Amino acid sequence: MRVLSGIQPSGKLHLGNYFGSIKPNLEYVGKVEESIFFVADLHALTTMCDAAELRRAREDIVIDYLACGFDPEQSILFYQSDIPAHTELMWILSTVTPMGFLERAVSYKEKVSKGIVATAGLFTYPVLMAADILLYGANIVPVGRDQKQHLEMTRDIAVKFNRVYGDAFVIPEPFIREDAAVVPGIDGQKMSKSYGNTIPLFDEGAGRKAIMRIVTDSKDAKDAKDAKESVIFQIHKLFLSPAEANVLAEEYGGGLSYGEAKKRLLSSYQDFFAPMREWRADLEKKRGYVREVMESGRKKAHALAEKTMGRVREAVGL
Ligand code: ADP
Ligand code: TRP
Repeated sequence: MRVLSGIQPSGKLHLGNYFGSIKPNLEYVGKVEESIFFVADLHALTTMCDAAELRRAREDIVIDYLACGFDPEQSILFYQSDIPAHTELMWILSTVTPMGFLERAVSYKEKVSKGIVATAGLFTYPVLMAADILLYGANIVPVGRDQKQHLEMTRDIAVKFNRVYGDAFVIPEPFIREDAAVVPGIDGQKMSKSYGNTIPLFDEGAGRKAIMRIVTDSKDAKDAKDAKESVIFQIHKLFLSPAEANVLAEEYGGGLSYGEAKKRLLSSYQDFFAPMREWRADLEKKRGYVREVMESGRKKAHALAEKTMGRVREAVGL
């Protein structure tokens, strides 16, 4: 089984990113035949146009992943832009992709309605994503629900290509992380950097401040509280085993004050991320090592990609 996923280099990581995406991704490493992750820096160009910012963000996300425990020996990690086959395959796939497929893309329409410029790149984003996936014959592509339609488009494009040129591609299975936690932000809405309600992973000071600002209702300190209703608890339980979460829920019922509940959450948060934070600070100083990891990932990805491209070029007559 081959698992693959692309990671957008999109700024400072928060608990939503960690529990909703990084942690479930890391769970595949070492458990499947091949796990492949890449920094989707070409996709990032559709929404970022500041070179210095992108350069920083693409390196930062690699350091973040390594700090979170990603093992580059057991998996492949690379920059999408390091493998020219992604754009070559994208072009070839675009010649079999009906315009109608792309015109139905919800994510494109949403992005344009939010003010992102409607470029050809933004419009053909799903074709590049199809190339990312088909290039490595990935069977399983774990993504959040917002990416479901993109995966369906990948399947449609693969089926179309196979019909025109003969079976060249594995048809990938979308694996939507329905069961992954949707982490609430400090205001109770979904945690997202666009809502300004995040708790960052690596900036402890900002994390502490954010935890102290989590919304609560107006119950008095000693009142019984329903843990399920509390945003503090919903975030705290991500750090706990089910048994520990039950014990904590009972304490809420017994009148744990919100102030004390926040202190407990802060302490879990600090303990959980302290080793990662330390490792991250170390990695910041080991840029050479980080570059080596990415070079080794590039070589492995290139070998896999070229195998597919050999088949594809042959199939289309190039
Ligand atoms: P943001 O909403 O902050 O812009 P991104 O869209 O960059 O976050 O998300 C990157 C990854 O993290 C995606 O796979 C997404 O599914 C996951 N993710 C982001 N926020 C949450 C959340 N609150 N709960 C669960 N997963 C999340
Ligand atoms: N579009 C994905 C996102 O925004 C990132 C991505 C790019 C991706 N290529 C991919 C995810 C291929 C899975 C497979 O999160």
